[in-house]
Amino acid sequence: VNHQDQDSLMAYQWLTKFYHHILEHAKESKHAKDYLYNRGLNDEMIERFQIGFSPEVQELTPQFLEKKGFNLQQMVQSGLLMRNDHNKVYDRFRGRIIFPIRNHLGKTVGFGGRALGDDEPKYLNSSESSLFQKGKMLFNFDLARSAIKKEKQAILFEGYMDVISAFQVGIENGVATLGTSITDTQASLLKRYVDTVVICYDGDHAGREASYQAAQRLKKAGCDVRIGILPTQLDPDAYIKEYGAKRFKHEVIEASSTYPAFTMFYFKGKYNLQVEADQMAYIDQITNELATVERAIDREHYARELANQFNLSIENIVEEIDKKRSQNH
Ligand code: GTP
Ligand code: MN
Ligand code: MN
Ligand code: MN
Ligand code: MN
Repeated sequence: VNHQDQDSLMAYQWLTKFYHHILEHAKESKHAKDYLYNRGLNDEMIERFQIGFSPEVQELTPQFLEKKGFNLQQMVQSGLLMRNDHNKVYDRFRGRIIFPIRNHLGKTVGFGGRALGDDEPKYLNSSESSLFQKGKMLFNFDLARSAIKKEKQAILFEGYMDVISAFQVGIENGVATLGTSITDTQASLLKRYVDTVVICYDGDHAGREASYQAAQRLKKAGCDVRIGILPTQLDPDAYIKEYGAKRFKHEVIEASSTYPAFTMFYFKGKYNLQVEADQMAYIDQITNELATVERAIDREHYARELANQFNLSIENIVEEIDKKRSQNH
């Protein structure tokens, strides 16, 4: 770690305390705290995740860092602060809820800042740097690691709030990518600690598409992937609020689909199965997927399902899958 990164790292630790202190103690943060309470977060989670608030008064953050002995120009260079047209240094997160993003050692290396209302963008992240490389880390990995080992399973969420909501109800093995699709590096990171990863993305169209992409990445890294399916209009945070932790555990996590079952469901949405040509394309697509399944009895299981669904003989389906398997090898 070079000198500049070391300073940034220290500044990030100070800022974490600063934002958190402001959320907890400043009168001006009441609306921010109420926002979090209204979303159902309790004080224990605010403490555990060191959630904070960046003050509306722009000068406060630079003043704080200056008092702690940091060079403001250097803070601008490393992306912790911004400089406006009038050459004034300011905090880009002002007026936002702050979610510290910690590395595997529990040190803050970046922030996610959420707008309180419907301001755009909804989330702002710290800029990429040698210290903060979004594609190489997972939100909450440091706190989740022991639970991941214990449960022999990790849950992959889309958002910070999904991770924190789940954590609050005792599901502590959740991590999230930082607003991007999962990278090979992140998939390998998970694979080092656990075999089974349950993808639990938002129920909307984007979440379903992202689930398929993530499933393929995780499978490539050697993980045993499962996919939790939510109602279209809900994300995990909203689901837990609506139906509670018990139902989330049973009906989403424990009931999560295997990869082949998920692809059969996912591709149904891509074809009009009333049309013969689409039926053929669907069967072709699913046999492609089944050709990548390792265990013969698993292939047979889903081949039977496919055969039943289209009134075909299982022998023909299995033959097709085996043919594709030998082509893949
Ligand atoms: P809430 O509305 O607070 O519950 O957020 P969410 O996590 O449900 O948001 P959403 O499902 O829209 O997005 C999932 C994740 O993508 C967020 O947690 C962020 O990490 C990221 N994200 C969402 N919107 C933005 C954005 O406008 N900019 C950036 N950089 N990231 C975003
Ligand atoms: Mn505190
Ligand atoms: Mn979403
Ligand atoms: Mn969401
Ligand atoms: Mn949400």
